[in-house]
Amino acid sequence: MSKLVCANCMKVFDESKDGSCPKCGLGEHQVYEFSNSDDYLRERIPIIIEERKRSGLDGLVGDLEGIIVNVEPGSLESASNEFLRYTGHSCIDAFEDRGHRSCVLRKDGSADIIVRSRKGGGNPFLPHNRHPESEHLPNTRLETFVFETKDIEKYFSIQKSKGVEFLRDDVLHKDNYSFVQTVPSRLTANSIGLIEWKGEKGNYSSSDGQAIDLDVQKPDRDYLKNIGTLDHTATRIKAKDRDAAVLEFMRLTNYDFNFAIYVKLFNSITSVVRLSGAEYAAVFTSGISPLQTLETSGPTEKFTYNYGPRVHHMAFITENIDDTVTSLKEDGMGFLIELLGSPEEGLKQTFSEPSEKTLLVNEYIHRFGDFDGFFTKSNVTNLTGATDLQ
Ligand SMILES: [Fe+2]
Repeated sequence: MSKLVCANCMKVFDESKDGSCPKCGLGEHQVYEFSNSDDYLRERIPIIIEERKRSGLDGLVGDLEGIIVNVEPGSLESASNEFLRYTGHSCIDAFEDRGHRSCVLRKDGSADIIVRSRKGGGNPFLPHNRHPESEHLPNTRLETFVFETKDIEKYFSIQKSKGVEFLRDDVLHKDNYSFVQTVPSRLTANSIGLIEWKGEKGNYSSSDGQAIDLDVQKPDRDYLKNIGTLDHTATRIKAKDRDAAVLEFMRLTNYDFNFAIYVKLFNSITSVVRLSGAEYAAVFTSGISPLQTLETSGPTEKFTYNYGPRVHHMAFITENIDDTVTSLKEDGMGFLIELLGSPEEGLKQTFSEPSEKTLLVNEYIHRFGDFDGFFTKSNVTNLTGATDLQ
């Protein structure tokens, strides 16, 4: 049986006389149709939470520290400059070590963006990048979500004992931090990284690497100060993998499934996974039913066919969003859709066109009052439809 969920207070209910929320009274247009197929997920979640506690993982993994965006070898500077031009992040460091050249972008209070390219050697993500619309950029994707841990050896040993596969046989120890990351997930093609700071927090460079001089520059434009922290990323996955992907993310982090929104029109489910007190939320978008044909399936299933499962967009909290989006447009940024929403609906948001360097879309989002959702019904319909243009 279908259920309804309120976009404001997230109350789930079976029916409503006038289409409004029985708890907070919001009107019909704010209430989503909600399929009942979260049953399996809801059944598994307490088991995973219990298992995390029992094995000692609870409290071991914190908020997102950074993301690693790998690009083609010739695109490190242009991709970094794009982030500098269209986000609030600034370059704080650039270095190379044996395997990579890296540019570290930072905004106070936000997860870092580490733009990097490989200097050679193998790329474990390569098989995940070979899809009709992405094979021309075989090294390009948002690869890794790096979370902070207080005890990386403990995390590594517990997860290894559970059969989790990592890219290395042991934890990598650098001057300022220790690091380890999982192999790319067969569900999302994302990797989860763990970092334990030892020395100066936030310093990724090491004595085995050297500083490099990159031709990157933060444009001197005031409106870039309006673009704030990384609010969420949305990973697009196949319909059949939704439950497993959410559960996998819960097992590898301390995040918990929060809620799911079903949009039948676009054959799409958006599942939100959060950690109490964390700035960053993980969003997974999947189809409700598997791909049948490219013409009839919704944008999400089509996207995973064309690009493979991967992060579709990064969302940044944006102040003065009307003026900021206007300025971004004046600076040459293309958008998939106009700015949608209103203070009454609780938020405004829009999506940029995908970057040719990273394949990533930027979402600019502003919430009003205590609204803590990710879209309104009118927005999600338009936004999901807009991505069909990709
Ligand atoms: Fe989003």
